[in-house]
Amino acid sequence: MTLSREQMLVEMGISPIWVRRDVPLAAGAQKPIADTVAVAEVALPVATADASPRAAGDWPTLAAEVAACRACPLCEQRKQAVLGVGDSNPDWLFIGEGPGAEEDARGEPFVGQAGKLLDNMLAAIDIVRGQKVYIGNAVKCRPPGNRTPEAAEIATCRPYLERQIALLKPKIIVLLGKVAVHSLLQDDKALGAMRGQRFEYAGIPVVVTYHPAYLLRNLPDKAKSWEDLLFARRLLRQGSTDSLL
Ligand code: URA
Repeated sequence: MTLSREQMLVEMGISPIWVRRDVPLAAGAQKPIADTVAVAEVALPVATADASPRAAGDWPTLAAEVAACRACPLCEQRKQAVLGVGDSNPDWLFIGEGPGAEEDARGEPFVGQAGKLLDNMLAAIDIVRGQKVYIGNAVKCRPPGNRTPEAAEIATCRPYLERQIALLKPKIIVLLGKVAVHSLLQDDKALGAMRGQRFEYAGIPVVVTYHPAYLLRNLPDKAKSWEDLLFARRLLRQGSTDSLL
């Protein structure tokens, strides 16, 4: 089912619907997903003793290392490691927490209920999964019972995230929830206190917002998340304009 923009905003619990007067509405047609980094099928797994920092390398090497990783106890119960999915040359990078049961089974991030909300949030700012966006997680393996990943697990997996970012070179990074914030910004402040600010990682602007699973339990905060996405889009557009100066 394809939702209209208005339906998506309603789905996000956001009303009234504001329409910018200075830009025409984007065409609703969705193009086929192209230039997508396939992540589930990985050839030549290379066993790694740990996930220590190293040069970004290339995608096949990174994907093979993640698929074969045994650097922390999360490898024991995973079905497969979930590297991420999307455009290999994205404007946007969204980083969540870690795979849940459905993601572990399918090898793709955010394919469950939280993923549906994420897709609707993206659609509300005219982003389609796979086009100009890459979606990944702070940890690549499902924590048993969907528990929150531990600090040591987040730290062990961080070099993989760093290498992804070095390969992707996104123009903006959106951190979905506390675990992603902890991983990338190494900050444990309350998420609410970090919203609406521009952080930076390797010269890339970073914005913090709520995790979609949290939003499913706290519907009124969807409107705040919408504000955060608009803020991120402003930073992205500002960055694109600055680069022309
Ligand atoms: N939650 C996450 O943080 N990541 C996923 O991939 C799925 C749910």
